[in-house]
Amino acid sequence: MSTGRLAGKVAAVTGAASGIGLASARAFAAEGAGVACLDLDGAAAEVAAAGIVEAGGRAIAVACDVRDGEQVEAAMTQTAVRLGPPSVAMCNAAAFTPSHRIVDLAEADWQQALAVNLTGVFLSCKHAIPHMLAAGGGSIIITASQFARVAKAERGAYCTTKGALLQLAKVIALEHAEENIRANTLSPGGVATDRLAWQFGDLETAEREWGPAHPVGRLGRPEEIAKAAVYLASDESSFMTGADLLVDGGYAAR
Ligand SMILES: NC(=O)c1ccc[n+]([C@@H]2O[C@H](COP(=O)([O-])OP(=O)(O)OC[C@H]3O[C@@H](n4cnc5c(N)ncnc54)[C@H](O)[C@@H]3O)[C@@H](O)[C@H]2O)c1
Repeated sequence: MSTGRLAGKVAAVTGAASGIGLASARAFAAEGAGVACLDLDGAAAEVAAAGIVEAGGRAIAVACDVRDGEQVEAAMTQTAVRLGPPSVAMCNAAAFTPSHRIVDLAEADWQQALAVNLTGVFLSCKHAIPHMLAAGGGSIIITASQFARVAKAERGAYCTTKGALLQLAKVIALEHAEENIRANTLSPGGVATDRLAWQFGDLETAEREWGPAHPVGRLGRPEEIAKAAVYLASDESSFMTGADLLVDGGYAAR
């Protein structure tokens, strides 16, 4: 019998092969949940799951493109068959979008941001909910961003999709409150992951240039966001739904 704050739960995490998703998958497993690591990069998802198993946890890897409804449905079914019905879904995958003013943003980059960040989350929720109903309830955690609240020039597609996710979570919260399914967004500030390394060239540059934008004077670590994800996944947040949990080093307070 596993122990921990998530004992007996099964969590499906999208974008689990890297950064915040990986740290959250590890933290969920350390708290006793069985974890399905869903990622576009199937090989990296295998590495993520193997690392969790090596650390004594229960995990599987599922290659899955969240833009594709059939793949997402199959991944949730596979999770239910191999681990049990997911009662936690962390909808976390997002695309890398180049920084341009709207006037210069390629339509393909806009469409890609919508497909992964927004439709991907819709599909992940849509196909997780039936399993949550079977499990008697659940917690949906949608990774949004401080840029769901405050805007940043040249990040139009990203800010727009992240803002929309706050509304998506609220709608799901209303639709399923009576069925014991909660839905919240988790909004990190800048966190040292591959995403920022890609955006700034490398993580040192990201830390130097972007860290000071946060009143605490630094970027966050994926593990700091994972702690908040564990809280949202656990019954400790049982009265919290339709809310946004901001973990941003004070960024949006300015
Ligand atoms: N890092 C930050 O500064 C920061 C700040 C605020 C919000 N966020 C959000 O946190 C989440 C995780 O970001 P991260 O920084 O850990 O990113 P990351 O790039 O380290 O990890 C993202 C993962 O998503 C996967 N992925 C990409 N497209 C996919 C698809 N179509 N289907 C399935 N998987 C796909 C990638 O393979 C990768 O493993 C994202 O939603 C991001 O917008 C990040």
